[in-house]
Amino acid sequence: MGKTYVLWCYVLLVLWGVSAGGAEKEEVGIYELKRGDFTVQLTNFGAIVLSVIVPDKNGKLDDIVLGFETVDEYKNDTTYFGSIVGRVANRIKGAQFTLNGIHYQLVPNDGKNMLHGGPKGFSEVVWKVKSYETDSHVTFTYHSFDGEQGFPGDLDVTVTYVLIGTNKLGVTMKAKALNKATPVNLASHTYWNLGGHGSGDIVAHNLTLFAPAFTPVDSQLLPTGQIVPVEGTPYDFRQSRAIGSEFHQLANGYDINYVVDTKGGNKHLNKVAVVEESKSGRMMELWSNKPGVQFYTSNKLGHQKGKNGITYSNFDGLCLETQGFPDSVNHPNFPSQIVNPGETYKHVMVYRFTAN
Ligand SMILES: *[C@@H]1O[C@H](CO)[C@@H](O)[C@H](O)[C@H]1NC(C)=O
Ligand SMILES: *[C@@H]1O[C@H](CO)[C@@H](O)[C@H](O)[C@H]1NC(C)=O
Repeated sequence: MGKTYVLWCYVLLVLWGVSAGGAEKEEVGIYELKRGDFTVQLTNFGAIVLSVIVPDKNGKLDDIVLGFETVDEYKNDTTYFGSIVGRVANRIKGAQFTLNGIHYQLVPNDGKNMLHGGPKGFSEVVWKVKSYETDSHVTFTYHSFDGEQGFPGDLDVTVTYVLIGTNKLGVTMKAKALNKATPVNLASHTYWNLGGHGSGDIVAHNLTLFAPAFTPVDSQLLPTGQIVPVEGTPYDFRQSRAIGSEFHQLANGYDINYVVDTKGGNKHLNKVAVVEESKSGRMMELWSNKPGVQFYTSNKLGHQKGKNGITYSNFDGLCLETQGFPDSVNHPNFPSQIVNPGETYKHVMVYRFTAN
């Protein structure tokens, strides 16, 4: 009897240990959303978009998102492939700011500056899976603690990826400040190539950006604070043109924030961009409720080993990261990103994919 008792105690301890461990450590998994021949794969590590599979004009399916073969490879990655970046996307000069008279020192990870929320930002953590239905949506949540990477206050973050109608993907990002005012600027850092992720560069893709101005940057890619009209500059994409058509005027592709034209707002969503690729006939349209969009032509991709044994090179993908303006917390003339206690930040993106 003594032996049986000891055995049961052991079994109970093991079960308790497993469930306690399970409760505090969320497992990393892959979540697929599927409707017809439109498929999106996501993971709760970094709330990352792993793949988006859509038909071309002949019905041929391709994965149009750059990424890695395994989820593990996203864990020590410097590309931010597909991830949700935060607490504050983009750069913060000197990794510091002052808010309500309090000076905050953040963790730098881009020289002296902070990029995409620091070395362990939202793209580097495991999110919880709050709800998931393969034919409709997946919702990830993350509790960011007071002082995380130097940011003030507890913040409850939610990201939902949702299938809408035919070949439309919605991304809703929400963040509620629980006890301190904090800057919040979330962005989806997906790299697109409408010809398929291994099809070469995106310089011949056509882009329209509904953006009359941009925020110039210095040599460290930090905004100077100016807001400059795109007219007469290589930054003007108001008329559809090939992405590479003005590359010769630039040092190294595009990595710049645009000021979105918010006058054509439809239910508070503004049309931000249209991307077209002529061989596949694929087109991607993007709407959002945010005032800025970072346009990045993967200028620093180098020789990055990716999915299906493919090695990506510079300019093999393009990012259209809707967000607030970079380093807003140090530029009072930029739209504020401060979320006060009890307030909720909300960022909506809608992508529509077609092929003709
Ligand atoms: C991550 O990459 C860096 C630089 O490539 C390396 O020094 C470090 O050991 C890596 N960490 C892990 C956990 O693989
Ligand atoms: C693509 O851009 C070129 C200029 O670079 C332009 O001539 C052409 O009309 C554009 N195509 C579409 C479909 O808008």
